Amino acid sequence: MPYLSPALNVMVAAARKAGRGLIRDFGELENLQVSKKGPADFVTTADQRTERILVEELSRARPGYGFLVEERGLIEGPDKSHRFLIDPIDGTTNFLHGIPQFAISIALEREGVLVSGLVFNPVTDEMYVAERGHGAYLNDKRLRVAARKTLSEILVASGAPFMGKEGHEQFLGELRGVLNATAGMRRFGSAALDLAWVASGRFDAFWERNLKAWDIAAGILLVREAGGVATDLNGRDKMLDSGDILVANDALHRQLLDLLRTAN
Ligand code: IPD
Ligand code: CA
Ligand code: CA
Repeated sequence: MPYLSPALNVMVAAARKAGRGLIRDFGELENLQVSKKGPADFVTTADQRTERILVEELSRARPGYGFLVEERGLIEGPDKSHRFLIDPIDGTTNFLHGIPQFAISIALEREGVLVSGLVFNPVTDEMYVAERGHGAYLNDKRLRVAARKTLSEILVASGAPFMGKEGHEQFLGELRGVLNATAGMRRFGSAALDLAWVASGRFDAFWERNLKAWDIAAGILLVREAGGVATDLNGRDKMLDSGDILVANDALHRQLLDLLRTAN
């Protein structure tokens, strides 16, 4: 059974409550897909409502903690040593298209250190949790990153910069390098779940640039507690500042860091 700190218990309860609303919204989307107005506004509303539920639930249980959330940004609290980092729906484009690959991501920082994290896909009911020093779990199952060490055998996930984002040429260079050296790559559209899937060994590795702290905070803890390594693309522990990230087991991480650095 996973060890859940009192704070992580509160986070799980908040995610489950918000997840029930998301499932209802996801069901309704199927009808909206074919409507003229289109589902985009509906999804924005779902995003905002989910975030509101999470902030309300967590504030009630932990009054005074600060927040860094996608829609409302920084919400400062009197307690300067604790902060929740939240993405209410990571994988919005999937959600909008009726693809059940999206998640709620919540992390808790204490004195700037990630101590608790969860990534929850309400459709598949997969709850990934991690507590610093106590391991990572998918529901009741302890997680371990994949052990493969040979590039030609691995499956790598990434995120591609879409319209309006910078870094297309750099991404295409990196993609070419990865495609030439590995067994395959996937772009599933939720960085939080990509990280959770590395923690669970489904993917061997994941890299992406220009993400936000709320996309990756919980996933970083999941990967580390599953025995993996997480750094930015310069090998430093600056992922939350730069938004650039590479995760894998130790041996693969070193090889991929070299590969991505020299790719063009
Ligand atoms: C996005 C997803 C996606 C990543 C994008 C993110 P959102 O978050 O994590 O996988 O490639 O860069 O912005 O917008 O769905 O919360
Ligand atoms: Ca996101
Ligand atoms: Ca989001």
